[in-house]
Amino acid sequence: MSTIHPSLDATQQPKIAMPIGLRLEDEINRLRKDRNAVILAHYYQDSEIQDIADFIGDSLDLSRKAAATDADVIVFCGVRFMAEVAKILSPQKTVVLPDMKAGCSLEDSCQPADFKAFREANPDHIALTYINCSAEVKALSDIIVTSSNAEAIIRKIPENQPIIFGPDQHLGRYLAQKTGRDMLLWPGACMVHVRFSAEQLVKLRTRYSDALVIAHPECPEDVLAHADHIGSTSSLIQYVKSSPAQRFIVATEPGILHQMQRAAPDKWFTTAPGADGNCNCHACPYMKLNTMEKVYSALNTLEPQIHMDETLRLGALKPLEKMLALSPLAAASKA
Ligand code: 13P
Ligand code: SF4
Repeated sequence: MSTIHPSLDATQQPKIAMPIGLRLEDEINRLRKDRNAVILAHYYQDSEIQDIADFIGDSLDLSRKAAATDADVIVFCGVRFMAEVAKILSPQKTVVLPDMKAGCSLEDSCQPADFKAFREANPDHIALTYINCSAEVKALSDIIVTSSNAEAIIRKIPENQPIIFGPDQHLGRYLAQKTGRDMLLWPGACMVHVRFSAEQLVKLRTRYSDALVIAHPECPEDVLAHADHIGSTSSLIQYVKSSPAQRFIVATEPGILHQMQRAAPDKWFTTAPGADGNCNCHACPYMKLNTMEKVYSALNTLEPQIHMDETLRLGALKPLEKMLALSPLAAASKA
């Protein structure tokens, strides 16, 4: 339960301080109703944000929800590219991101001018681009994919059609191996998932020999080699629910453990280790910028808000619409 603590000094208070004594959750609920707002949260958000969200999901689920909601305001508790997708799909809605600095290392690794040059150097290739990129890079792409629909979409592309896949090289390599497609990969990586250590994972597995390893496909190849199941965040949660196993070593951002524990309260979970053997080094610094105080402030002021040039929005909308058309609901729950 969160309240604004009266002893905090002025520099520690959120931008819009609440009257002392009011409960943050109550005020968020009041504003959510007044604003006709919906709070969408990714599985990597802090547990208290997940607990107040109207909807929690992976990137594909959240895109669908953003496109379908009849709320006037979307408070996007995730990172900036996700909030941008909400704005691209629902331009008439007010989309706020509690902290505009919530970026993504994959987005940073793929600057639009460089991506444009890469495309121009490979004019016979189509660009299948992971949703973790800027709106500008989306507008330079043919089809957007997420970790939950990429494999199915690749399998729909004619065999003789060369493909560029970016910006995540690890997801790209995993998909190329899975589908047998020889894709040209952009050399980006997620700063969170590359920190898992295969060597330490093997050591931990020796200690918990009955545990299954589950991993997000943004992990490097040597980590994925030890995984019993690989999939999007939704797929990993689904797997722990349906698997008869009792213990799981989880190679993705630890925010996901909250929903795993709720889905399977009798099971045991731990995060896969980094090079130093530490299990607590994988929090996404961008996802964790959002706080309950900032959610309250965003609802109160409707800032920081996503604004987008209409030409850019229409350019990015095309490959996103292709993704949604190629991702029937039944395919969404699979990895
Ligand atoms: P999904 O939730 O779509 O699997 O994506 C993971 C991720 O890294 C989001 O930034
Ligand atoms: Fe980006 Fe990685 Fe954070 Fe996801 S976990 S938002 S891919 S930096």
